[in-house]
Amino acid sequence: MRVAMIGTGYVGLVSGTCFADFGHVVTCIDKDAAKIARLQQGVMPIFEPGLDLLVAQNVAAGRLSFSEDAAQAVREADAVFIAVGTPSRRGDGHADLSYVYAAAEEIAGLIEGFTVIVTKSTVPVGTGDEVEAIIRRVRPDADFAVVSNPEFLREGAAIADFKRPDRVVVGTGDARAREVMTELYRPLNLNESPLLFTARRTSELIKYAANAFLALKITYINELADLCEVVGADVQHVARGIGLDNRIGSKFLHAGPGYGGSCFPKDTLALVRTAADAGAPVRLVEATVAVNDARKRRMADKVEQAVGDLAGKTIGVLGMTFKPNTDDMRDAPSLEIIPALQARGARVQAFDPEGMAEARQLLRDVDFRAGPYDVAEGADCLASSPSGISSGRSTSTGSSS
Ligand SMILES: NC(=O)c1ccc[n+]([C@@H]2O[C@H](COP(=O)([O-])OP(=O)(O)OC[C@H]3O[C@@H](n4cnc5c(N)ncnc54)[C@H](O)[C@@H]3O)[C@@H](O)[C@H]2O)c1
Repeated sequence: MRVAMIGTGYVGLVSGTCFADFGHVVTCIDKDAAKIARLQQGVMPIFEPGLDLLVAQNVAAGRLSFSEDAAQAVREADAVFIAVGTPSRRGDGHADLSYVYAAAEEIAGLIEGFTVIVTKSTVPVGTGDEVEAIIRRVRPDADFAVVSNPEFLREGAAIADFKRPDRVVVGTGDARAREVMTELYRPLNLNESPLLFTARRTSELIKYAANAFLALKITYINELADLCEVVGADVQHVARGIGLDNRIGSKFLHAGPGYGGSCFPKDTLALVRTAADAGAPVRLVEATVAVNDARKRRMADKVEQAVGDLAGKTIGVLGMTFKPNTDDMRDAPSLEIIPALQARGARVQAFDPEGMAEARQLLRDVDFRAGPYDVAEGADCLASSPSGISSGRSTSTGSSS
């Protein structure tokens, strides 16, 4: 099959490369000219374990290419994926769909023959209807189907997640689109990964329902961690004690400084807004958002409790991204915790194995060090969650992003 991937970020680049590795012919497209130029030279714009090798292999095999221009790839495509960002809209927390709609307009002008337009971006219920309406408005004559296919990969384990997913969710009522999607994911039959076909709106909601549930689970163990500290219990043992119960499961039960990253914060908020607008509020998710926000802010208090007045103290921070094995700093708890420490007069020295370049752009007045031992040197206190100051510690244990 021929695939055009619109948006070559964490999701688009990994998905496009894995589809090429499945044997399809894929063009990854991005508006960011510098990103495309780097990819054409074999330089990865993100850190993701194993990605550089997989990209190189599929480029060499002639199945994967990169372009700034969508025209040719979209014209020839059986399936066009939309994998652009859907950040929180400033001010109200709704998902900002402007990139998705702009991509839909652009695609509409280009498609030829029956084409499946697949929304891989995380989008609120009903977005597929709007994408369909946009394409129909621009091209009343076009033969196409709009499908929802949310992505569940985790940064840091993205390739394995894409190639061995717990499930693939596809939302469509169109028989031809169903055939195309089945063909695209055919190699997953070997891994016996279930392909779950459902209605488009249901598929859109499944993604938010999954992320909110995982955020809620992290927040639950975080609140229990606070209780453990007060009553003299060990949260690691509590997590193990409840996680061994199959009905609960051990994943996403690692207490930390609050969840962060490019998905959970914006997706929980977007679900809260969607549900409120629909008149069916999700109170548990509302509480999760509030508890998590407060938790990040309270982390500086915990450091102060440990070392006393922070004025003039040196705090070493180990890890700044929201979890290990990624350079993604979006909504990382460290972005709130480090400034809170500085506001109380602390000097901060920090290291992250992958996120230094990103962190330098986002954090001010931090003494960036060359390695973890340099961070320890001269520090009054070292701040880190079990594997960095990052989030709900989901890398080795979670199954979603
Ligand atoms: N990052 C994750 O772990 C993850 C996991 C699952 C789902 N998602 C969802 O996938 C979507 C993409 O996330 P991401 O982290 O890959 O975002 P990203 O910001 O890393 O990448 C988006 C890319 O799209 C490009 N773009 C925007 N508009 C474009 C257009 N019209 N034409 C071509 N390129 C365009 C941007 O330049 C950027 O490179 C979001 O909806 C996100 O919620 C992300």
